[in-house]
Amino acid sequence: MLVDRFNRRITNLRISVTDRCNLSCFYCHKEGQFCNTGIEMSPEEISEIAKAFRELGVKKVKITGGEPLLRRDIVEIVEMLPEFDEVSMTTNGILLDKYAFDLKDAGLSRVNISLDSLNPSKYKNLTGGEFKKVISGIETAVQAELTPIKLNMVVMKGINDDEVQEMIEFTSRFNRRGINVILQIIELLKLPNLEDYYFDIGLIENEVAKKAEDFRVRAMHHRRQYYLNGTAVEFVRPMDNTEFCYNCNRIRVTTDGKIKACLLRDDNLIDVKGLRGEELKKKIFEAVGLREPYFSGGD
Ligand code: 5AD
Repeated sequence: MLVDRFNRRITNLRISVTDRCNLSCFYCHKEGQFCNTGIEMSPEEISEIAKAFRELGVKKVKITGGEPLLRRDIVEIVEMLPEFDEVSMTTNGILLDKYAFDLKDAGLSRVNISLDSLNPSKYKNLTGGEFKKVISGIETAVQAELTPIKLNMVVMKGINDDEVQEMIEFTSRFNRRGINVILQIIELLKLPNLEDYYFDIGLIENEVAKKAEDFRVRAMHHRRQYYLNGTAVEFVRPMDNTEFCYNCNRIRVTTDGKIKACLLRDDNLIDVKGLRGEELKKKIFEAVGLREPYFSGGD
């Protein structure tokens, strides 16, 4: 079992399979990988790393990017993963039409789809992508039963902070059809140059909390989830949030095969690309030993 010095058990693994993307969202944190190496792992290498984490007690794995669906071998990557309680993927949905059914057959449980705006021209400005492609991607994911589908909305001041209600309504339309779709309202991570767009989603949370009929706190990051007429709305607030960090159960693997202890840190990566078996596990323990809460409540 993997437990770090702060008594946090590692149960969730995120593997980035490419840093290429077909969108160009100005706010993207690129999963904390700020320089592209151009190196991607093979399905075998990814599988080997996933297997080691699985054997060490990790329960869930998420495939991330960049945009994972840009890998031509993405179905093979999913197929070669060992069995987990859940295999999910974060995608922008643009190419889901093409892959949803094959991914389901390959063992993908569910998807998170980034959707920051329901206004096609705003979506285009924000991401460079076609809104209708995402919508049809979501519909195909519904047909393929890649559920629960989580819609990721990053709230940005002056851009989409007025669209939350509409997004809740959009999400609840699926729930009324008996399809499990959850809205994740995500606070913008203030990377350099993004301060102007920061919006305190606590304000939205207060409004939602007033109307909610039910509420729960998830183990992961202690995220709060509210139920509004049966629709789940979850709040993800990492900024300056010690509770978030002290309840972090995640670890990441970068596109070029390095274990990354924290999204926000780049100075303690452990290279495991191409390693196998015991040698790989030793490095995993070493990486877990380096984990510390980024927002710790200190100065
Ligand atoms: N702040 C918060 N979330 C972000 N994401 C990317 N960049 C940021 C940021 N600056 C997350 C969103 C998006 C996923 C691909 O990454 O959840 O849906």
